[in-house]
Amino acid sequence: MEPQIETGYPPKAPWRVGDIEIVPCSEHIGAEVRGVDLNALTDEQFAVLHDAWLKHLVLLFRDQRLSESGQLAFSRRFGDLDLAPKDQNGRPELPDFPEMAVISNVVENGRAIGALGSSEAVWHIDMSYNPIPPKGSALYALEVPPSGGDTGFLSCYAAYDGLPEALKRRAEGVTIKHDATLNSTGQQRTHLEPAHDVRTSAGAVHPAVHIHPETGRRALYLGRRTNGYVTGLSVADSEALLDELWAATTRDDIAWHHQWRVGDLVLWDNRCAMHRRDAFDPGARRVMHRTQIKGTKPCN
Ligand SMILES: [Fe+2]
Repeated sequence: MEPQIETGYPPKAPWRVGDIEIVPCSEHIGAEVRGVDLNALTDEQFAVLHDAWLKHLVLLFRDQRLSESGQLAFSRRFGDLDLAPKDQNGRPELPDFPEMAVISNVVENGRAIGALGSSEAVWHIDMSYNPIPPKGSALYALEVPPSGGDTGFLSCYAAYDGLPEALKRRAEGVTIKHDATLNSTGQQRTHLEPAHDVRTSAGAVHPAVHIHPETGRRALYLGRRTNGYVTGLSVADSEALLDELWAATTRDDIAWHHQWRVGDLVLWDNRCAMHRRDAFDPGARRVMHRTQIKGTKPCN
């Protein structure tokens, strides 16, 4: 049977379907989609976007004007949505929109209006510490700082394809526990015990290489580095293998870094892309709305 996506993807040159133009942002990941209003998407346009998403892993839509309902409706085109994490007090950040998370450093009346502050967020796959991580995330920019806070994305297909053969074989034979105790900015999650021993601390186990359920392509699935654990190995051997895999993965040549503008919506495929965020001035405001589409268990 022909693979759904042939080797050589993503397309390297801009391509077009009708009024929609898709312009690659880098060699391995990311494309800007021009000519669509996400508030008024037809079924035909959605089919083009879905195809482009699978090919380019991350899509950027500029100059959008999305209400909360508009972002939710767009995100639901891709599937049912996960509920957003609760705030520190166990409440949804936006009670009227429980599927929408606020990612922000802004504090109003002594209360953080969202999560993740202003510090660096390390490379990660969203919620891979859960048994069934989301298949995609959509992040919409309402307020952005004058500089900093860029989001980097890297292709986990290219990371896998680029592994030396021997390392590829080793990765294919193992599973990794993805740490649940720290968030992507390194803060301890208060409802969990700190990871005193990575062999027993909280997290979900996934194959280190999985097969993307829609494209059939193999992708390295590392999640996050800190407190990761290759199951069944000694901690020392696990650390050594993880260091080797991460060193081979976090390469500039397979990454793309996005500088945000107000009105940008970025949609990434959480099954084959990792992301990180640069720190920014804590005195500047950054407010983003995030929705996440329900996924399936990573399998190989
Ligand atoms: Fe994230």
